Amino acid sequence: MSAADFQPLSVAEAALWRDELDARGHRLVFTNGCFDLLHAGHVRYLNQARALGDALLVAVNSDASVRALKGPSRPVNPEHDRAEVLAALRAVDGVVIFGEERATRLIEAIRPHVYAKGGDYTIDSLNPEERAALAEAGSAIRILPLVPGRSTTATLQRAAIPEGGPRRLRLGVLGSGQGSNFRAILDAIAAGSLDAEVALAISDQADCAFLETARVAGIEARHVDPGPQARRLGDAAQKEIAEHLRRARVDLVVLAGFMKILRDPVLNTFDGRIINVHPSLLPKFKGVNAPRQALEAGERESGCTVHLVAAEIDAGRILGQARVPILPDDTPDSLHERIKRAEHELLPTILASWSPET
Ligand code: GAR
Repeated sequence: MSAADFQPLSVAEAALWRDELDARGHRLVFTNGCFDLLHAGHVRYLNQARALGDALLVAVNSDASVRALKGPSRPVNPEHDRAEVLAALRAVDGVVIFGEERATRLIEAIRPHVYAKGGDYTIDSLNPEERAALAEAGSAIRILPLVPGRSTTATLQRAAIPEGGPRRLRLGVLGSGQGSNFRAILDAIAAGSLDAEVALAISDQADCAFLETARVAGIEARHVDPGPQARRLGDAAQKEIAEHLRRARVDLVVLAGFMKILRDPVLNTFDGRIINVHPSLLPKFKGVNAPRQALEAGERESGCTVHLVAAEIDAGRILGQARVPILPDDTPDSLHERIKRAEHELLPTILASWSPET
């Protein structure tokens, strides 16, 4: 069975299973919970629960019921995934997903032989309705000790995920021109397909559509004077850019049409966290005028590349590419426009899947 094929049991299937076990003189143990981020405490608890009978059924709270119980930032993992991970444990023989905050209806339907509960309860502190349902079903109640120091909350804290949910990816975006890739990023954020925020936009060009896009969107927009040489970003500018990005606490630097070469201290401050979009299928046609280079080389297709930035120009690790055809009457401009349309898809997609280990 492939992972995608995993299906939890329905309540009716679980009830039938209980009856089959019962007919063979076997005992079904039942427990329930959110099981959001599995940790060793869960595993030990479930092993102990399983040892109370011959098979273990776990009822996992649906996403809506976890939210109702734990607040809007939970669950971290969706219900189907939580059920699938639980079902893969050696102790677990079956999983159902249930939508209520209480397990009363399930207890009534399934009538488990044993009901196991984690140790922050006593029999007296069990919900009275659940207790009544258990008494009615003839289920034995077993309270199992909690494993100290192991909890989903502690796991979240160690992972430094703040209350209210994980922090959104903070982007610092650099550009020099029209800003169409920048707008594609903002559109993806607005559409919800990219969970990020742009903390800061920086340009080496004082008056460009890129910076205007940031201002219109209410994003901090910085012009950094490149210095005395037209083509080269001077040392002072490199330092200033690094300082702005550091102060804005960006997680990732995105070069969206930034036409100057970055050096230290930007590169070493954000090592492995700077990505660039380039209008060719790298390693072909590095540097400026890549669409013109592709046409002049007589290529039949070109495309775009999103890659990590390294000290050597357009040479860092490739994260993704998209191909576009070259048409017989293409000019450098028409080809570049077609490539940019591909960039507007590729760049937000790569950003959406970004993690520091990418
Ligand atoms: C994009 O095509 C990008 O790939 C290219 O500049 C264009 C910027 O367009 N970048 C490079 O050539 C970097 N070597 P935009 O300002 O409309 O996003």
